Amino acid sequence: MTERAPASDRPGAAWDPARLPDLSGRMYLITGANAGLGYFASEQLARAGAHVVLSGRNPNRLAAAHDAIEARVPGASVETLLLDVSNPGSVRAAAASVRGGLFSRARLDGVLLNAGIVHTPRRRQLTRDGRELVFATNALGHFVLAAELLTTLAKSSSRNRSARMVWLGSVSTHLRTPDPTDIQLEGRYDAWRAYVQSKVVVHALGIEADARLRDADVPVQSVVAHPGYSIGGRTPRVQGVNEPSRWKRIRDGFQSPWSQSKERGAASLVRALVDPAVRGGEYWGPRFLTHGLPVRQRPSRVAADPDVRRRVWEECERLAGIEWPFARAARAAR
Ligand SMILES: NC(=O)c1ccc[n+]([C@@H]2O[C@H](COP(=O)([O-])OP(=O)(O)OC[C@H]3O[C@@H](n4cnc5c(N)ncnc54)[C@H](OP(=O)(O)O)[C@@H]3O)[C@@H](O)[C@H]2O)c1
Repeated sequence: MTERAPASDRPGAAWDPARLPDLSGRMYLITGANAGLGYFASEQLARAGAHVVLSGRNPNRLAAAHDAIEARVPGASVETLLLDVSNPGSVRAAAASVRGGLFSRARLDGVLLNAGIVHTPRRRQLTRDGRELVFATNALGHFVLAAELLTTLAKSSSRNRSARMVWLGSVSTHLRTPDPTDIQLEGRYDAWRAYVQSKVVVHALGIEADARLRDADVPVQSVVAHPGYSIGGRTPRVQGVNEPSRWKRIRDGFQSPWSQSKERGAASLVRALVDPAVRGGEYWGPRFLTHGLPVRQRPSRVAADPDVRRRVWEECERLAGIEWPFARAARAAR
């Protein structure tokens, strides 16, 4: 990655993914860090000097990602954390470890809410606690995790720099408005609808979170980012993390004009997480929509509809049985 984003894309903000600002002393938590975009975002943050907590649901896959970063980034500072985002108990336990200072740094500068089911099941499936699986993984689990970490993020903010949460959107969110009355697709389910609906909900939550954080005077920013169309067959081989077959490389190679590697796709997520020029409530993604260097983008329709956003938020509060601790986070930051 040697290109540099033209300064004209964002006044005064040339951005070179290969030359990130120095992130020494900062700590970031990444969900779904053992593979794909989450892995490459973690690697890029570690290369810039950040301490990175790699979270995932499988200890062996997490260990492989941890070892890969240590091998590829000399001096990297990484730890692992078991976290299944579809399981509220696991989310709460993992967040408690972060809050309890189990990790090398007693701060949290940002969380990348990345884990997700991309190849969604053909038939509607439920989690153990009865939530539709794709919604529970991509949206609701992260809604709970962000709430659980809000006070820690607020405490880590300083006068010059707010801590950040970044939600994973998708180009597909331009296609649909969520139906807050059927957020778990009980009425009509299909695999594509489940994916798009979950991502539109994520987009709504990311923008609504920022509005609520501003209202409550909490110095934490919420940003939505997407990686365009980033595919494994165009991504460098990393042992135990990304080992596509020859056939997948050939197949994905045919999609070169409108796709990019997951390593490049991760650049938009990393920029959204660390660039001081990014503001809360913004939407970031690749310049040519499916590929390219990270630039600020026009948000999807749902972002401009406060009523839908509010209803999505309230439905997530109801299903998760929580309210975000805005007042506590604002006090903690003072
Ligand atoms: N790739 C794209 O073009 C694209 C486009 C738009 C948006 N996105 C979004 O970007 C994110 C990452 O996508 P990707 O392409 O990197 O996918 P990926 O290669 O399939 O990686 C998904 C990651 O999420 C983890 N995950 C899935 N379910 C989980 C759970 N219940 N708990 C914890 N971790 C879980 C996976 O862990 P396991 O290994 O344990 O399954 C894996 O680490 C997703 O949110 C996706 O919707 C991707």
